[in-house]
Amino acid sequence: MSKNVQDLDGLVEAFEVYPTSNPTPPGERAAELAAPRFGTVFTDHMSRITWRKDSGWQDRRVVEYGPLALDPAAAVLHYAQEIFEGLKAYRHADGSIWTFRPEANAARFQRSAKRLALPELSTDDFIGSLAALVRKDIEWVPSADGFSLYLRPFMYASESFLGVRSSHEVEYLVIASPVGSYFADGVKPVSIWIAQDYHRAGKGGTGSAKCGGNYAASLLPQIEAYEQGCEQVAFLDDVTDTYLEELGGMNLFVVRSDGTVETPELTGTILEGVTRSSILQLARDRGHEVVERRISLAELLAGLRDGSVSEVFACGTAAVITPIGRFKGVNFDEVVSGGAAGELTMALREELTGIQTGKVEDRYGWLTRLA
Ligand code: COI
Repeated sequence: MSKNVQDLDGLVEAFEVYPTSNPTPPGERAAELAAPRFGTVFTDHMSRITWRKDSGWQDRRVVEYGPLALDPAAAVLHYAQEIFEGLKAYRHADGSIWTFRPEANAARFQRSAKRLALPELSTDDFIGSLAALVRKDIEWVPSADGFSLYLRPFMYASESFLGVRSSHEVEYLVIASPVGSYFADGVKPVSIWIAQDYHRAGKGGTGSAKCGGNYAASLLPQIEAYEQGCEQVAFLDDVTDTYLEELGGMNLFVVRSDGTVETPELTGTILEGVTRSSILQLARDRGHEVVERRISLAELLAGLRDGSVSEVFACGTAAVITPIGRFKGVNFDEVVSGGAAGELTMALREELTGIQTGKVEDRYGWLTRLA
């Protein structure tokens, strides 16, 4: 059962609202909402909570969106003690605003915090901060099909101290950005470069945490992908250079021609995607056999060549489900599904976005009403 809007009132009331004296004029906002490019336009406000080692989380507030004051010695600038999340707020046909599985993001944010030696934020504060911001900037939630308000919670070490230890001062914020498709070309099959000389994560490292450092490590291989004529990069495991892990910011799925749906198992070096786990559920309930296991690149390429692999797709909050049309590496270049979007890929995308936008019944209780 979906959660009701009144359930969040108490959480939202914990946030003091300081409205901007300079809100975006309605005409300008309408123009921004008409065709936003992913992550380039931001709403008028942001949620914020401060943490101090001796007094804990405090000062819950919604303030004007704007630059942050940061001492040049702030720990995050030197030692990358930072984590983030990604969710979306969707406007349903009746004007109500909903988000998708925020408890799962809150729990992952807590796990990421633990790994990066940051303080854990309660699920109530996490969801309260989303609802407080969305209620303040409600006009920024797009209503057009395929559009939503991307929510970006993040936390960083703000203490000015150059010694290497976990910070005694931390800031948590949520910013919001109206978005359409993650890729500039819309939902079209993307091409993937398999990184040859780089890995995203190593055993015992931070691969399963959503921290900025993991994304920083993927940027150079991403440039290599562009140079190879590919849109995205995918990584193999760091120990044997054999098994598929994930893209820079998305999980991977393989569909076999017998209908089996497979995804790399969580080995500690892969991000536990909320979209990933939702797809596993949806595919299972459609009657597909669903398998989480190690999938080697050699096996994938052989399956593409002999036709036993029929579809491959990537998934994440930002890009939802994105078909993959091609895999390229140093000595291979294989097309997937004849370069077209796979049937199950698009059916799962339709069902998932249908649930998120209120067009398909939320039979899993995945939605929380924010406003
Ligand atoms: C997301 O899908 O929300 C992500 O975090 C991926 C990327 C935009 C960093």
